[in-house]
Amino acid sequence: MIELKNIVVKFDNFTALHNINVHVKEGEFFTFLGPSGCGKTTTLRTITGFIDPAEGTVSVKGRDITHVAIEDRNIGIVFQSYALFPTMTVYDNIAFGLKVKKLKKAEIDRKVREIAKKVDLSDEQLAKAVSQLSGGQQQRVAIARALVTGPAIICMDEPLSNLDAKLRVQLRNELKRMQKEFGITTIYVTHDQEEALTLSDRIAVFNKGYIEQIGTPNEVYNHSKTEFVCNFIGDINRLSPEVSRALGADPAMHNYIRLERIHVNVEPKQSDVVLPGTVESMEYYGLYIKYTIHLGSQTIKVIEKNDGVNIYEPGQQVKVVLNPRDVMAYSAEEVAK
Ligand SMILES: Nc1ncnc2c1ncn2[C@@H]1O[C@H](COP(=O)(O)OP(=O)(O)OP(=O)(O)O)[C@@H](O)[C@H]1O
Ligand SMILES: [Mg+2]
Repeated sequence: MIELKNIVVKFDNFTALHNINVHVKEGEFFTFLGPSGCGKTTTLRTITGFIDPAEGTVSVKGRDITHVAIEDRNIGIVFQSYALFPTMTVYDNIAFGLKVKKLKKAEIDRKVREIAKKVDLSDEQLAKAVSQLSGGQQQRVAIARALVTGPAIICMDEPLSNLDAKLRVQLRNELKRMQKEFGITTIYVTHDQEEALTLSDRIAVFNKGYIEQIGTPNEVYNHSKTEFVCNFIGDINRLSPEVSRALGADPAMHNYIRLERIHVNVEPKQSDVVLPGTVESMEYYGLYIKYTIHLGSQTIKVIEKNDGVNIYEPGQQVKVVLNPRDVMAYSAEEVAK
């Protein structure tokens, strides 16, 4: 549906995007994930039409839109800072795009009220000025405004980053529900890996103007293609050469294992490797417990489900159970590139 082919973007002498290739399918929730400055917003702005790429093409449903004006692309946009009109009412903010399209008053009214209901904004709130609303409510206004014109595509740039943690989780669930309900092809930008993993059908992981991997949440998390991806997408242990050897991994490689793949004091299964460790510290999260454990010359972190019975205290000797199959290995040269 949306295709970026060999996109290069330059700001003077600085190349912000090097040969970006992405193909977003119809109805897909597709996320650009990566650290600050890696080129997520620049890629999104190239799709929406704010940036003219030096090379490459953007097409939607096979039509080349690389040089089509922003307003002719039929793409809904939600930015981090909402870009709402603060002194106008919520109603007028949502109605704005429909007025620009010169729709009849009655039709505007019907559409505004319909979308407001979908994002849980009451009639009372519609009459208020945007500045009188909370951050989460303003966020819903921004989403309603982007959806009301019925775009086939919606682009969102860190739309939840100004909200507190609880509201962020609540709104992201709503976003996902609406996206599925409307079937809108969505491109979502975030630097929050948890947000990316929970929301996305597929994720593109960016680094320094390149895409390192495109895949489903499970592919990027459990089968990280590069060392950068494996480090960026969730917590992980780098294994010492000694522990690598014990697991039958090549100690010359950079070997990693995720925290939840390691277990403490369980009955080893076939092909598991058991190493003696000493608990250094534990963090109690309720749902799970995170341990830091001395394992030979290194410390590793382990996450165990909290079963309410097996809780290990600092100083305690434990059996650390690992499986060689869970090791993700990267060549040292690849890192130096
Ligand atoms: N208008 C501009 N002029 C010059 N350089 C720019 C411009 N816009 C972006 N850049 C540079 O391009 C690179 C990518 O920026 P971009 O805004 O795409 O990053 P990002 O991944 O969205 O980061 P963040 O998570 O901080 O929003 C950065 O190094 C940035 O400084
Ligand atoms: Mg950005």
